[in-house]
Amino acid sequence: MYICNDFCEKLRHMNSGNTARGSFGSQLGVILASAGSAVGLGNIWRFPTEVGKGGGAAFILIYLGFIFLLAMPVMISEFVIGRSARSNAIGAFQKLAPKKPWIAAGIMGVLGGFLVLSFYSVVAGWTLHYTIQSALGQLQGPLTTDNGQQPTDFGAAFNAFVSDPWQPILYLAVFLLLTHLVVARGIQHGIERYSKLMMPMLLAIIVLLVAFSLTMPGAGEGIRFLLKPDLSEVTPDVVLGAMGQAFFSLSVGLGCLVTYASYFSHETRLVKSAMNVCIIDTMVAVLSGFIIFPTVFSVGIAPDAGPGLVFITLPNVFLLSFSEMPIVGYAFSLLFYILLLLAALTSSISMHEICTAFISEHFSHSRRKAAAIVTFICLVLGSFCSLSFGPWKEVTLFGRGFFDLFDYTVTKFLMPLGGLLITLFVGWYLDRKLVEQQLTNEGSIPVRTMKPLLFLIRWVAPIGILVIFLNELFPLFL
Ligand code: PHE
Repeated sequence: MYICNDFCEKLRHMNSGNTARGSFGSQLGVILASAGSAVGLGNIWRFPTEVGKGGGAAFILIYLGFIFLLAMPVMISEFVIGRSARSNAIGAFQKLAPKKPWIAAGIMGVLGGFLVLSFYSVVAGWTLHYTIQSALGQLQGPLTTDNGQQPTDFGAAFNAFVSDPWQPILYLAVFLLLTHLVVARGIQHGIERYSKLMMPMLLAIIVLLVAFSLTMPGAGEGIRFLLKPDLSEVTPDVVLGAMGQAFFSLSVGLGCLVTYASYFSHETRLVKSAMNVCIIDTMVAVLSGFIIFPTVFSVGIAPDAGPGLVFITLPNVFLLSFSEMPIVGYAFSLLFYILLLLAALTSSISMHEICTAFISEHFSHSRRKAAAIVTFICLVLGSFCSLSFGPWKEVTLFGRGFFDLFDYTVTKFLMPLGGLLITLFVGWYLDRKLVEQQLTNEGSIPVRTMKPLLFLIRWVAPIGILVIFLNELFPLFL
C-alpha cells in the first residue's frame, strides 16, 4: 500500500540500534533547549533595532506573519526530519533520501553552523567583556584607556576594544570554551541541564528589567516608538529584513533543530513544542523592545542601530539615567549584560551541536573529541571575524570583511535556501504517512491543524521563501 510502511519499518530498525545517541530526558528540557536556541542576541539586540528602523508596530505585524506562516512550518519540518531519522543534519538526509541530492540541505546546514558560531561568538565575546566591565563597576564611572586618558565617550571605548588585535579574541576564546564545556557533556547532562538552569534565569531577568524600565520617567515615549504602526517606513527592504529576522531568531534553516529533534522522545509533541518555542521567542523579542526603548527615550538619546545600541548607547543610558542612584544603575546594567550573555550562550550551544553531532557521528569520534575539533575550527574562523574589526579591516573577500561575509552568507543565503529545501523535502519528497505519523505521534494525538499545517509546509512556506529570496538576490544581478 504505502511505501512508507516498509520504509518506516526499515527506519525503525535502523534507529533501534542507535542506543548510544543521547536524548532529552523531559518535555520541559525539549522546550527550554529549543527555546534556548531560538532566544539569543537576535532577540535582545537585533529585533529592537529592526523594529525601530522598520516602522514600529508595522514591522512587528509583518514579523509575526513570517514567524507563523514561514518560519514555524520550517521548524516543524526540521522536527519531523530530525525525529524520524535520529541523526545529525547531514546524516538525516542521507538516511531519509539515500544517494539523493537532498543531502545538500544538510551540508549547507553544517557549513552554516560553523560560520554562524564563528561570527556570533565574536559578539558574544564582546558581551562577556561588557558583563565583566559592568560587574567591576567600570561602565558606571569614567572608563580608562590604555594610555590612562579618559575616553570622551563609550563609542571610543567600544571602538578601541573591538579593533584591538588580542583582547576580543581572548574573550571569544573564553566564550567558545564555555560553549564547548556544555556541549562536550552531552545532551542530558550538558545541553538539557544547562538550558534548564539558564532559561528560567533569563526569563526572570527579562521580567525584572521590563518592570524597571517601564517605571522610568518618560517611558511612554519609548513605548509609543515601539508600538506606533508607521506604514510609511515599510519598504520592500523592511519586509526582507523581517523574514531574515524571523529565520535567524527561530534558528531555522540550518538543521539546528533537525539535530535537536533527533534527541526528542516518541512522546514529544512536535507541533505543540514548535508553537511554544515560537511564542517564547516572540515574547522575549517584544519584551526586549520594552526594556530598551523606554530606557533609551527616558534620557532623550536617539536609538541607534546595530552594535552601537547595546555597547555604546546603553552604557551611556545606564550612566545618565541612574546618575542619582548609581546602585540601581549598577544592578540594571549588570543584569542586562548577564541576560545578553545567557541568551548568547544557549544559542551558541545549539550552533555548536549541529557541527559536533555531525563530526562525532560521521567520523565516529567521541563527543569530546568532536566538540574539541569544532571549538578549534570556530576559534580560528572567529579570530578572522574579530580581526576584521581591527588589523584586517582592509582584508576582504567578495568585497566584504570576514565578519560581514559570514553573517551575509548565513542569513541571506544558507538560512532561506535551507528553509526552502527543508519544507520542499518534507512537503513533497517524504512519504505523507511518515510525516503524519511524526506529527500525530503515530496517531496517538489528534492534530487538528494538520491540513492547514501541511498546506503551509507544501505551498505557503516554499513559495513565500522563494519569492522573498529571489527578490533579495536580484539586486545582485542588476
Ligand atoms: N536564534 C538565535 C538568536 O536569535 C541565533 C541562531 C541562529 C541560533 C542559528 C542557532 C542557529 O540569536
